[in-house]
Amino acid sequence: MQHLLSVNDMNENFIFDIWSKASDQKENFSNVLKSKILTNLFYEPSTRTSSSFYSAMVRQGGSVIPINNVKFSSAIKGESLEDTIITMGTMSDCIVLRHPEIGSSIKAANISSVPIINAGDGEGEHPTQTLLDGFTIFYNNNKNIDNLRVTMVGDLKNGRTVKSLVKLLSRYSGNHFNFVSPADLRFPKELLPKKSFQTERIEDVISDTDVLYVTRVQTERGSDHRYALSMSQLRSLPDNSIVMHPLPRVNEIPREFDQDPRAKYFDQMIYGLWCRMVLLENFMS
Ligand code: NCD
Repeated sequence: MQHLLSVNDMNENFIFDIWSKASDQKENFSNVLKSKILTNLFYEPSTRTSSSFYSAMVRQGGSVIPINNVKFSSAIKGESLEDTIITMGTMSDCIVLRHPEIGSSIKAANISSVPIINAGDGEGEHPTQTLLDGFTIFYNNNKNIDNLRVTMVGDLKNGRTVKSLVKLLSRYSGNHFNFVSPADLRFPKELLPKKSFQTERIEDVISDTDVLYVTRVQTERGSDHRYALSMSQLRSLPDNSIVMHPLPRVNEIPREFDQDPRAKYFDQMIYGLWCRMVLLENFMS
């Protein structure tokens, strides 16, 4: 059975196939997933990811069982993740799981009778975010995803989106990474790619950046920093660079920057919908 638990579960052909089809989804309201049911099982808060899967499913004629608030599910009565997965496997064709523990999606996949899609396991991975993040670069960079100077900013220790994206971008040749964070929120040493540079000062790298990927401080995972990029710092970005953020934004990027053509963080949401439409079709039809 096909599961999507980590970026490692997607090879280049699989990814390229999804990206090639993703931009055709603009006007695509098909019925390919008619009579298919998806469970959205979210043990952590989500606005975009859960709604994106919901919308992607419904736009293709499918239905969704949304368990977005586990307070109202049997988890609150003490039911294990495994028993909940067995239960939802009898009622749906695929389960999208977000859970605060690293490795939870592997645990779920080991017992599940239907495909599991990891929508974030604690500070582990978030492979479908990477699919849309990679597509954002591909789509806005003449279908190229190599030879880039990528600057990652924020809580690089606890954020899962950066870890998954670095895994993906490291596969393509010539990508160089700058990691900008406070000393105690550094990107994990064991995951550092060969071509990388670490600093606490955005000024060291911002003018040598093609992709600026900004993340928020993960307060729910114990971080307590605050930081915000200023308009004057952002003015040093090259003209043809792009600025991404998985969202939610707290105050890392000033709203004043939203109108700048380099700002792609709101576009990322529509790209995510397209990518997830193709992914769900791939998994269920
Ligand atoms: C991210 C997540 O949940 O990891 N959000 C998302 O899925 N778009 C980023 C975050 O919460 O900071």
